[in-house]
Amino acid sequence: MLSPDDVMEMSPNLSGRVLHLSRGGTSVVIDLDAVPHPAIVHWGEELAGSTDETLRGLAVAARPQRVSGGLDAPARATLVATPAGGWLGTPGLEGHRDGASFSVRLELVDVEADGHRARLSLVDPEARLSAQLELDVGTAGLLRQRITLRNDGDSRYTLQHLHLAFPVPWDATELLDTTGRHLRERTPQRHPFGYGTYLRESRRGRPGADATLLLAAGRPGFGFERGRVHAVHVAWSGNHRLVAERSVSGEAFLAGGELFAPGEVVLAPGESLTSPEVIGSWGDGLNELAHRFHDEWRSRPEHPRRPRPVTLNTWEAVYFDHTLDRLTALADAAASVGVERFVLDDGWFLGRRDDTAGLGDWYVDPTVWPEGLHPLVDHVRARGMEFGLWVEPEMVNPDSDLARRHPDWVLRGRTTLPPSARQQQVLDLAHPDAYAYVAERLHSLVAEYPIAYLKWDHNRDLLDAGSGPEGIARVREHTLALYRLLDELKAAHPDLEIESCASGGARVDLGILARTDRIWTSDNLDPLERLVNQRYTALVVPPEMMGMHLTSPVVHSTGRTVDLDLSAAVALLGHVGIEWDLTGTDDETRRRIAAWVDYAKRVRPIVATGRTVDVDGTEPGIDVRGVVARDRSSAVFTLTQTDTTVSYPPGRVRVPGLDPGTQYRIRVVGGSTHAAAQSGLPWQEHDIRLTGRELDVVGLRPPVQYPQRSTVIELVAQSDTQAQGGAR
Ligand code: GLA
Repeated sequence: MLSPDDVMEMSPNLSGRVLHLSRGGTSVVIDLDAVPHPAIVHWGEELAGSTDETLRGLAVAARPQRVSGGLDAPARATLVATPAGGWLGTPGLEGHRDGASFSVRLELVDVEADGHRARLSLVDPEARLSAQLELDVGTAGLLRQRITLRNDGDSRYTLQHLHLAFPVPWDATELLDTTGRHLRERTPQRHPFGYGTYLRESRRGRPGADATLLLAAGRPGFGFERGRVHAVHVAWSGNHRLVAERSVSGEAFLAGGELFAPGEVVLAPGESLTSPEVIGSWGDGLNELAHRFHDEWRSRPEHPRRPRPVTLNTWEAVYFDHTLDRLTALADAAASVGVERFVLDDGWFLGRRDDTAGLGDWYVDPTVWPEGLHPLVDHVRARGMEFGLWVEPEMVNPDSDLARRHPDWVLRGRTTLPPSARQQQVLDLAHPDAYAYVAERLHSLVAEYPIAYLKWDHNRDLLDAGSGPEGIARVREHTLALYRLLDELKAAHPDLEIESCASGGARVDLGILARTDRIWTSDNLDPLERLVNQRYTALVVPPEMMGMHLTSPVVHSTGRTVDLDLSAAVALLGHVGIEWDLTGTDDETRRRIAAWVDYAKRVRPIVATGRTVDVDGTEPGIDVRGVVARDRSSAVFTLTQTDTTVSYPPGRVRVPGLDPGTQYRIRVVGGSTHAAAQSGLPWQEHDIRLTGRELDVVGLRPPVQYPQRSTVIELVAQSDTQAQGGAR
């Protein structure tokens, strides 16, 4: 194995060299001798106890035999595998020089590495391309990869495709990804991972409601608690592509990268392109895989750390009906139940009386707000709440002063506009004047009003998104301009928080979450549907970055009537808010909401720092999930009755994730009893204690509940037992 010093000096003789990167419980072993350039031999569980010699052996053990009908030198799924290197599957890189020079075969010329990071320099003098490949194993064991490709030639190089590959174990024969639509994002789907290519593409200029958040491959039947599983996520808010490929040559990998439109990336001589980060995680079960994402995201200096303010968003309360009286009454009601942030949604700017006009004209509408937003903002702040404002800066209605004055600022691939969606089009943010206008408007608004928070929306897919008379594809440039705008706003207003919303949760990725503070998880506030959406969103997104709001009793998106306790329990394990016209609620309802808000404030430190636990194997009709404090001294779980169960009273459920040797007292915080329950719940009536192991292995009876009800339980370690139990 190479010591860091060796690695620095090793070029040009690379014979017999293996690189071992490791951190956070993850090992990555790279065979530097693979032909024509390195291949990852292992990515996953930390190989404690391996020696230099065994790791060299491991690299040799991965090498294929020559077989009939194959190449004389069998090819490998190397880091950027191409046909010129013998790879017959999906190439890692494709491009050409005006129809010629399609052949690429990158070779390793230099390596720099320390214990968890490596930078590999690859060149192809004949193709006149060079690449720097960065691999970094993070503190929680995520593997991040990024590549910078440079055109070393004297002609333009058109890049068609570039992805980064993550090999997975051969026994990972089941795939998991997500799909969805508006009001139903991140619906899981599973498939066998057979021979061939499984491809998920996002072509909507934002990941999209139907996009997969990640592509996972694991041992058949892998669940949240158990079963080895690996997954890859593309940290990018434009178009992307994820591939799972199993080759008959005995190699399986996941790969991800940006998806380019024709001609979108043409590198001038000397020009380079840096890919988005493609991030891999793994675990024995999806819970562990998700914890790596959460832990690493939380370790960033810019991660929101102060307690997540309980938010009231005005959208479903008033829609476009903006009047000062109505909104101040809503603010009073919000303050009375303990809300800390009041967000004025769509409808405040010029001409915006409904969703047909106004986008782009980011001036407060004097016909609705003759004194500006000041009276409302002052009212909100006088009641001790922060003020937040909705914007949709990348969009424009054709019926707006902006579109009338600057038709050339609207993205289009041809002379006619792209198909309309929600009566709107997309602004060409990469156009310097359009960018300057939007930036000026946002900076001015944030400077004029004490705005603590922007809800940044993006309500349509990008179609035929080009610019200029030549019709040059623009999704990439648009996405980069968006990132720049967000970064500049944050730099200029360091306390400003930003939410990423896109018709609910159609732009959820770690590219946007690197520069915003939370996502609006879905426009669907139905708690039963949110259970699925939130569980799968949390595979990547830390729960405190997921907006979870109490709904009005009749859910606007499904028409279902839901119980307040259910709605609150389902919102409890995230960034809690309210999406409901509280002015119409009676005193008793407000008292109950206030009690939930109060409880959410007590629980939020655990939610923001603890470990999410999703429980496998519960009987259909019961959902068990929770969050366990980092030191495992306490936990909050919800036992949600999604439907009736066949067992009656229901059989026991397990409560895993606690310290096995510590005893816990269990308290019911909120819940309801089924009229048919003829006696109390015995464990609730007796002051029992159970060890973490007993809770995990054996479990307890959930209460008999009506369907669509939830019970919240709190588990608190008994300090006299904690010392004996100790950490595992
Ligand atoms: C999108 C958002 C909603 C709301 C509306 C306003 O649909 O997801 O929360 O802000 O836009 O038009």
